[in-house]
Amino acid sequence: MTLRVAVSQQKGGVGKTVTTKNLAAALADRGHRVLVLDADPQGGTTLKLGLRDRYRQSDIPALFDVLADLGDLTLDDLDQLVVSNWDVDSAAHEGPEGFDLIPAHIRNFRLEKHLHSQTRGIEALRMALDRYEHDYDFVLVDSPPNLGPLADGALIATENVLFPANANIIARDSLEILFDEIDTLEDRFTDGDSKKYSIRTLGAVLNEVPAQGSVVTETRDWFYQTFGEDFVFEIPDRSAIEHAIENHSTVFSYNPELGDYPWDRKKIDELRNAYHRIAEHLEEYQ
Ligand SMILES: Nc1ncnc2c1ncn2[C@@H]1O[C@H](COP(=O)(O)OP(=O)(O)OP(=O)(O)O)[C@@H](O)[C@H]1O
Ligand SMILES: [Mg+2]
Repeated sequence: MTLRVAVSQQKGGVGKTVTTKNLAAALADRGHRVLVLDADPQGGTTLKLGLRDRYRQSDIPALFDVLADLGDLTLDDLDQLVVSNWDVDSAAHEGPEGFDLIPAHIRNFRLEKHLHSQTRGIEALRMALDRYEHDYDFVLVDSPPNLGPLADGALIATENVLFPANANIIARDSLEILFDEIDTLEDRFTDGDSKKYSIRTLGAVLNEVPAQGSVVTETRDWFYQTFGEDFVFEIPDRSAIEHAIENHSTVFSYNPELGDYPWDRKKIDELRNAYHRIAEHLEEYQ
């Protein structure tokens, strides 16, 4: 069975993209077949993995063509967007990545407008994934930093959500806004008297957790109380995360000994363990 998961948060810069790609790599490292779908028109995952040409080249099919009614492709054609074994331009990348990717494309900015007005626009991504015959164990969706139709579409398509957040003073409000959005979405789609979709919370990922600080302690406590011990995952604040990005890699494909930061080794091992913990948790839902 395939488990689909949206990595969602309307607030920008909280680690959605970092979580998506590193978690995908952890799942792949554990022997799973994984697809990442970059639903953010800004292309965080796509660009951070170094697929800039894919993102910008005009004659390449994109999510826009599959999901928009007036696109050149149909909901049956999601398979045409999948990329695997892409070339990586970096000295410290030990490839290939163990997962496949449906990259973002700049054309997808226009998709948001279309999905707004289109009948079943928010459900389009779900319908396309339903029609796509594949053998992935996990499909992870990197969401845009808004509450638009692609972010909503990712929640509906997956019915499972992981919440990345920074351990700061606004994390709690950001999360509450998203909880409200999920309630509203569930109420909006009904089959007779019952809700059509039920979006399950798989956990929260606290990113860039510094070693200490009172705000951090307070926020962390709130997360543990709200989600429960086993549903909070902490990723420490480590520049090795950024060095992996610099090298168009994940913390799994990044090899510090081959790059400019040989002292990253221990941090990379620590980060890999942290992502393995989330991966192990997701396996319980499979
Ligand atoms: N654990 C970490 N340690 C150090 N830096 C981190 C960590 N996690 C995230 N960052 C930094 O935060 C930046 C933003 O992360 P990311 O791009 O994943 O956020 P995002 O939520 O996807 O942003 P957007 O909303 O713009 O798509 C990264 O480029 C990286 O520099
Ligand atoms: Mg992002």
